[in-house]
Amino acid sequence: MQRILTGIRPTGRLHVGHYFGMLQQTAELQDHFETFVMIADVQALTDNFHQPQKVRAMVLEVAYDLIASGLDPRRSTLFIQSLIPEIAELTVFYGNLVTISRLQQNPTVKSEIAQKRELFGHSVTYGFLGYPVSQAADITAFDADLVPVGDDQLPQLEQTREIVRKFNQIYGPTLKEPQARVLDTARVRGLDGDAKMGKSLGNALFLSDAPEEIARKVAGALTDPQKQRLGDPGRPEVCTVFEYHGLFHREKLGTVAAECRSGARGCVACKRELAAGANAFLEPLRARRAELEARPGEVLEILMEGTRKARAVARETLARVKERMHLDYLGGAA
Ligand code: TRP
Repeated sequence: MQRILTGIRPTGRLHVGHYFGMLQQTAELQDHFETFVMIADVQALTDNFHQPQKVRAMVLEVAYDLIASGLDPRRSTLFIQSLIPEIAELTVFYGNLVTISRLQQNPTVKSEIAQKRELFGHSVTYGFLGYPVSQAADITAFDADLVPVGDDQLPQLEQTREIVRKFNQIYGPTLKEPQARVLDTARVRGLDGDAKMGKSLGNALFLSDAPEEIARKVAGALTDPQKQRLGDPGRPEVCTVFEYHGLFHREKLGTVAAECRSGARGCVACKRELAAGANAFLEPLRARRAELEARPGEVLEILMEGTRKARAVARETLARVKERMHLDYLGGAA
C-alpha cells in the first residue's frame, strides 16, 4: 500500500473551508493509502514563536477537528511533529542541500513573508525562511509516496523533490521522491465574499461553532448587492450564500437559483434555509467533537500512540541517512 503524509499547522480551529478543501478529501484517501497526518507544531512556531501557548492549545483543538471530520485514528496515524526529533535532525542535514536564494525565490514563502511584515519587518528569520527544508524532512522521514496538499504548497513539494534528488545524487539512493496529490482547496470563499475562508475576521464557519453562531454568521454573509429586497431578481452566480447552498445541500441548488432569479426568494429566508442546512450537515461532526473535547486525555493518548508509530518509521529513515552521510559511529548510540 502506498503511503500519504500531510501536515497541518495548529494555528487556529478548523473551518468549513478546511473541511471541504482538505479534511473530507483526506478522509476519503485513508481507505486507499496508509495515511499519516502530522500536526505541525514546530512549523506553526516559525511564525508564532512569540505565542507558544496558543500553538500548544491549538494542537488539541486541531486534533478534535481532524478526528471529528472523519480522520479515523484506527486507520490513520495522527501525530505531533515536535515529538519526532528525527525530523529536526534531518532538517539540519538537508540545510546543506538548499541555497538561501532558492528559498527566497519560493513563491509561497515570498508571499507569506510579505503578509507577515508586522512580525518580521524587513528581515525574515532563518527558521521561517527555512520551513520548506523542515517540510522536506517531514515528508521524507516517513517515506511518503504522495502528499495531499493545496496548490499553494506545490512550491514546497518541488523543494522537497529537489532536496531528495540532491541527497540521492551526493550520498547514493536513500530517500523517496514524493509526488503531490493536489486537493481542490479553493472551493470555499469567505462569508464576506473574500477569495478564501479564514483570512479575514468573522468570514469563517468553524466546525466547532454553535448552531446559533452559524446562523448569526450566515445572516451576515454577502449576497448579490443588487438584490435589495424580496421581489428583486437576484444573481446566484455572484452570491456567496448561493455557493454555500451547494456545499451543504446540493440538491436544493436548482430551486434556490430559480427562486432567486425570479425574485420570489428573499435573502433573509434564503439565509435561514442555508443556516438550517449547514447546521444539519455539521451536527454529527459537532457531536463527535463534543465527545472528544470531553476527553482530552484520550485524544492526547491517540496522538501519543500515533507518534510512537510514526517515530519508529522516522528512526529508520534517519539511521539510513546517517549511514549514507558517514555519521554511523559504532551503531550511532553514545
Ligand atoms: N505547510 C503546510 C501548510 O501550511 C503544513 C505542513 C507541514 C505540511 N508539514 C507538511 C503539508 C508536510 C504537507 C506535508 O498547510
